[in-house]
This record gives sequence, C-alpha cells and structure tokens, in this order.
Amino acid sequence: MTIQMATNRTFTMIKPEAVENGNIGAILERINAAGFRIVAMKKTQLSADSAGTFYEVHKERPFYGELVSYMSSGPIVAAILEKDNAVADFRALIGATDPTEAADGTIRKEFAESKAKNAVHGSDSDENAAIEGDFFFTEEERS
Ligand code: RTP
Ligand code: MG
Repeated sequence: MTIQMATNRTFTMIKPEAVENGNIGAILERINAAGFRIVAMKKTQLSADSAGTFYEVHKERPFYGELVSYMSSGPIVAAILEKDNAVADFRALIGATDPTEAADGTIRKEFAESKAKNAVHGSDSDENAAIEGDFFFTEEERS
C-alpha cells in the first residue's frame, strides 16, 4: 500500500443557496474547466449538529449561529478535488468570502448572493482539506 500526503487535494461544498438556485451544473463546469479532477462527490444535507461540528473552528465568531443554520437549511454538494496546488488554486478560483470583494471571473463573483450565502466552500489548508474530506467520505470513496 502506498501512503500519499493529500497535498494535491482540496475539499469543496456547493452551498444551499447555489443548489436551490439550480447552479450545481454551472459551478461544476467551472471547477472542471479550471483543471480540477473530481475524486469524490455527493449531494446530501447537513444536520445542525453536523454543520456545527464542520464549522467548529468558527464557534466563537459572531456569525457562527447564522452559518450553522444556513448550512443545514437545504441540500449541499460535497466534493474532494484534485489538482497540483489544489488548496491555493481553488481559493483563487472561488474568490473572496464577500462577493462584493471577489475578483471578476471568480465563482463567488458570479454565483454568490452575499457574504453569508457565498455559493461555495473551499478548504483553507492542506490539513483542513484532509479533515473536511474525511468528514464526508469513507476511505473507499476517497481513493
Ligand atoms: P469557506 O470556509 O466557506 O470557504 O469561506 P471562507 O474561508 O472564505 O470564509 P471563513 O472566514 O472561513 O467563513 C466561513 C463562512 O462563514 C460565513 N461568513 N459569514 N456574515 C459574515 O460576516 C460572515 N463571515 C463569514 C460565510 O459563508 C463564509 O464562507
Ligand atoms: Mg474558511
């Protein structure tokens, strides 16, 4: 068995408002066009408890309650993506957290409704990419 560091992987979610607005296909097209390979993917809905655990790092932030209730408000699409320099390149592709500050051509610029409802999640480090991918997918699903 080969042991591989997941430095070429990131984790994403298409968030509830983007799913609700029918933007799954358009967002996946943008992700593919940018050279990411989809390693694992599923549509599911987070319970408030799971969303709270996923975003535990933000639990002291003022927007935590709003974030947890929003992220559990409807279906999401979770995916593990692979590409060289995946974490940084995916953050560049999605753009700034607040869509009014996101660069032209980014996914958030095009699809986000607001700073809270900002269409997609992207991991912020290799370590968190691995933790987040493990949160949603079994080892078999991640291979
Ligand atoms: P994400 O984790 O979803 O990829 O977003 P991010 O790194 O760009 O932003 P982060 O600081 O990690 O915040 C996580 C998510 O919380 C919501 N948020 N709302 N109302 C607000 O001021 C506010 N700030 C952040 C957003 O949904 C953000 O993506
Ligand atoms: Mg973040």
